[in-house]
Amino acid sequence: MAAKFDTIIRGGTVATASETFAADVGIRAGRIAALGDDLGAADDVIDARGKLVLPGGIDSHVHFAQPSGPGIVMADDFESGTCAAAFGGNTLVMPFCMQERGTGLRQSLKDYHAKAEGRCHIDVSFHLVISDPTPQVLGQELPALVGEGYTSFKVFMTYADLALTDFQMLEVFSVARETGALVMVHAENDDAIRFLTEKLERAGQTAPKFHATSRPIAVEREATHRAISLAEIADVPVMIVHVSNGEAMEQIRWAQSRGLKVFGETCPQYLVLTAKDLDGLNMEGAKLVCSPPPRDEASQKACWLGLETGVFQTFSSDHCPFRYDDPQGKLTPKGRTSFRWVPNGIPGVETRLPILFSEGVGRGRITLNQFVALSSTNHARMYGLLPRKGAIAIGSDADIAIWDPEREVTISQDLLHHGSDYTPYEGIAVKGWPVTTMVRGRVVTRDGELVGKLGHGEHVARDKSPFAAAVGVPQ
Ligand code: URP
Ligand code: ZN
Ligand code: ZN
Repeated sequence: MAAKFDTIIRGGTVATASETFAADVGIRAGRIAALGDDLGAADDVIDARGKLVLPGGIDSHVHFAQPSGPGIVMADDFESGTCAAAFGGNTLVMPFCMQERGTGLRQSLKDYHAKAEGRCHIDVSFHLVISDPTPQVLGQELPALVGEGYTSFKVFMTYADLALTDFQMLEVFSVARETGALVMVHAENDDAIRFLTEKLERAGQTAPKFHATSRPIAVEREATHRAISLAEIADVPVMIVHVSNGEAMEQIRWAQSRGLKVFGETCPQYLVLTAKDLDGLNMEGAKLVCSPPPRDEASQKACWLGLETGVFQTFSSDHCPFRYDDPQGKLTPKGRTSFRWVPNGIPGVETRLPILFSEGVGRGRITLNQFVALSSTNHARMYGLLPRKGAIAIGSDADIAIWDPEREVTISQDLLHHGSDYTPYEGIAVKGWPVTTMVRGRVVTRDGELVGKLGHGEHVARDKSPFAAAVGVPQ
């Protein structure tokens, strides 16, 4: 007789990135051991009748506990950030390990691991941010760390302490080319932003809403095109992150049509917010300051098109949380009244999936299987986690989110678990909500309660990007 299961999820509708079918899910030792009916006995049976059983969300773009400038403190550490993520139907998040200039990558990673160790409710896997590509970083640390499972890094084309020159970008790209890593690019033209910021400040246009004016679409389009060109020169795959509008999306589509391995990500703020939402908010506009900024309705439509047609592979939150009404948060410190001092970033790890489900699947823009791909499976594929993560398949980790597709919720700060004191999505009505989140077979959240044990979440080392093989990197 077959061995008993630890858990059976019974009576639900399973959806993967390609199929939807009725099946019970048998779980043993943290992994999916059987899919079918009449699976027999289990220590625990979860009734999923009327529910969807989906691969747990993977959010491949979040920021937790990141130093954010003098006097500013990020609102989520690993405990609150992974808790909020679990309530949002996520089973793995990918935070950034930010290299500060003058610090080596190994030291930076040590610091981030120390912050995360024992403090995670769900699994995490770090990307590296390269801000100081010294010969030591390029020649030794990066290749060694890719070998140890840190197979993706982000580079910035803007922000004073982070922006790389084109030469430096090419140097980082060639290490990615040689080692099989995937580079994520923050594409905005730094000189243009500085020029526009100074001009706005001279004209006294310093309220938070002018943040959007200082970073127009052309700033992002130009940098996106340049990043693609540099990637072509280095012959390396790249992921353009947090794409906000149609012109940048078209650059990616154009590159893809030429056979280049150029990938794209967009985020909830570009689907449901616009720059106009900052109008009339005065200082409260700071709550929506993020980069690139939310745009207009045409940009929202273009981002949907990018999701619907496969130009974008991943839909992430870019959760970068600050408190608003806090001396260490977004309300600018005394004497620093310009938008330029507002920390960039907004919270969203808990609301990403309900927004995509409701606005996407609920309104018929994407299928349920596209939802699974965009919210989980494609993240796992892009970043070297598939089939262990992002799948409901025999042998995969039992990382599962059970959704009530009928539950209607009006998003409100009171419901959420992040460390911010507001949500940019206040008042948005959604239909469809994650009710149970399970990581490696253990229930973390159930019916609005945190039931998991802090520290259950682990760091996950990753394989090389499968796209490295496509450009001939030895595997
Ligand atoms: O404004 C944003 N997006 N802040 C987070 C940092 C980044 O660029 O991803
Ligand atoms: Zn960025
Ligand atoms: Zn980000």
